[in-house]
Amino acid sequence: SIYVLYAAVASYLIGSIPFGFILARYAKGIDIRQFGSGNIGATNVWRTLGPVPGIIVLLLDMSKGVASVFIGRHLGGAGTELIAAFFALCGHSWPVFIKFKGGKIVATGGGIILAISPLTTLIALIVLLITVGISRYVSLGSIMAAITVPVTMIILRMNILYILFGVVIAAFVIYKHRPNIKRILDGTEFKVGKGRR
Ligand code: G3P
Repeated sequence: SIYVLYAAVASYLIGSIPFGFILARYAKGIDIRQFGSGNIGATNVWRTLGPVPGIIVLLLDMSKGVASVFIGRHLGGAGTELIAAFFALCGHSWPVFIKFKGGKIVATGGGIILAISPLTTLIALIVLLITVGISRYVSLGSIMAAITVPVTMIILRMNILYILFGVVIAAFVIYKHRPNIKRILDGTEFKVGKGRR
């Protein structure tokens, strides 16, 4: 129905709001894309501007994912929910407002999974924290957490549509972390805490 189209367009536009870019630019006067990894996400905002701006961007980017799921759910049910969520990810990844150079969809994807399955989100978060704790790479933690999502959904015997969506999110996250994977293999990836890069 036409509501699927409305949900997709609205979610793409919401996903496109580059909160990391906006906060860095208008609250701190810098172009976040010229610092650290160059990413507009919470990790790079935290790395560049500190924990408070980082956490604010994390929550705002997550809220885009949550919003897209609710928009889809109210306009058309479970199928529409996942279409809307996918378009929010596309918006965050390729934002119409800043020349289609967006983020790595970890926070926005996290918001989506939170709205679909809080338990899956909790388990993925634990995997993320353990991986970052051991490796000091946020990117590796994000990738491991993303892979945890469909695996957890299978264990929880969730609907096959959600499991397939979990696989799509995991593949999308890995795809967006190509530069990070290259840096990890080169030994030049940013590390949390002291001794960065
Ligand atoms: O927030 C995305 C994270 O997994 C990696 O961010 O800035 O280290 O590329 P960054």
